[in-house]
Amino acid sequence: MIHQIRQKKLLSQLAKNALVIVSTNPEQYRNGDVHYPFRPHSDFWYLTGFTEPEAIAVFSKESYTIFLRDQDPRREIWDGERLGVANAPQALNADYAYPISELKTQLPQLIANTTLYYDFKPCALDDDIMAYLTTTKTQSLNEYLHEMRLIKDTNEIALMQKAADISTQAHQLAMQQSKAGAFEYEIASIFDANFRKNNAEHAYTPIVAGGKNACILHYIKNDQVLNEGDLLLIDAGCEVAGYAADITRTFPVNGTFSQAQRQIYQIVLDAQLAAIECIKPGETVTKPHQITTKIIRQGLIALGILQTDGDLAQFYMHGTGHWLGLDVHDVGRYKQGEQHRQYQAGMVTTVEPGIYIRKDDKINPIYWNIGVRIEDDILVTENGNRVLTKNLAKTIDEIELLMRKK
Ligand code: GLY
Ligand code: MN
Ligand code: MN
Repeated sequence: MIHQIRQKKLLSQLAKNALVIVSTNPEQYRNGDVHYPFRPHSDFWYLTGFTEPEAIAVFSKESYTIFLRDQDPRREIWDGERLGVANAPQALNADYAYPISELKTQLPQLIANTTLYYDFKPCALDDDIMAYLTTTKTQSLNEYLHEMRLIKDTNEIALMQKAADISTQAHQLAMQQSKAGAFEYEIASIFDANFRKNNAEHAYTPIVAGGKNACILHYIKNDQVLNEGDLLLIDAGCEVAGYAADITRTFPVNGTFSQAQRQIYQIVLDAQLAAIECIKPGETVTKPHQITTKIIRQGLIALGILQTDGDLAQFYMHGTGHWLGLDVHDVGRYKQGEQHRQYQAGMVTTVEPGIYIRKDDKINPIYWNIGVRIEDDILVTENGNRVLTKNLAKTIDEIELLMRKK
């Protein structure tokens, strides 16, 4: 039902003779005959709810046609059941269903005399579609579809809250089970187990970075030992029915922040809280980054780490957030024309400032190899915002208290 509503809403914004084509992701080989687990393309999933590979949906104001793999008893012994062409209309609320092998023959008729909305991207069977589209003028679908995906409905918000709750629980266990001598992968396995136990998947490869590894922004090797006195930065979140959580916490391996760690952590926390505070309908989306950079700059200058005219990017070199949804870095524009847009109820954004201090003879060694990021997921509401990840310990006191309760 929800998918029909989305299809109608999308088509209502398009030309009278619009024809929308969306395809799912191709399957990816990991090695030999082995595939990675299949993950549908987010646009296709959003509009159809169908999770099998090799499928293309074609929508017009009159009808919804799905092309999919037909049943194949021999292949199903290896790969599992397929919905099949005969079952598809009822299961997917489609008007027509055809085997994907008939796409070539059906597509020219479907496309004739329509205004075609389609985006070229690495999706299943794009080569086939491309062959038919070379002579056809197409309009961008993303412009409409991604704006719809940017504003989450209640169904989506419930799934994102669930992803946030499962991820929160795993982060809590990780804080409680961390100790010097454990390996980063042992802590990572807490997330594997808790996500799978809840029928959720990793939304992205987790970062479990002890000590100086936290200063490598995309550290995913997760294979080093945790040392007494170091911080541990964990950026991990699951997806539930495709919807992601994206959470980072940084805490001391031994449960107690050192003085230098406290100082850096508190700057990041102050920046993050102030940025979250500003998020409400009507506020410009660049405001959180303005706030975090100002607070972090002042904090680092006060500690003598940054010169008054120094380059903050040496210590804080990424943005403060991104849209979150079916994609971890979700779709939707940040600008409307030349102007940065404003928050609207139903948007979900992360807020994730950080400070990363590498070994540098110009900096007091007590700060070397400290990397701190704090990341939460924020739903914009009518009156302000709701932090979907608010149940996870975040202040210094909350973290130290939780880590004492083993
Ligand atoms: N975990 C990916 C990100 O924070 O953007
Ligand atoms: Mn993020
Ligand atoms: Mn993250």
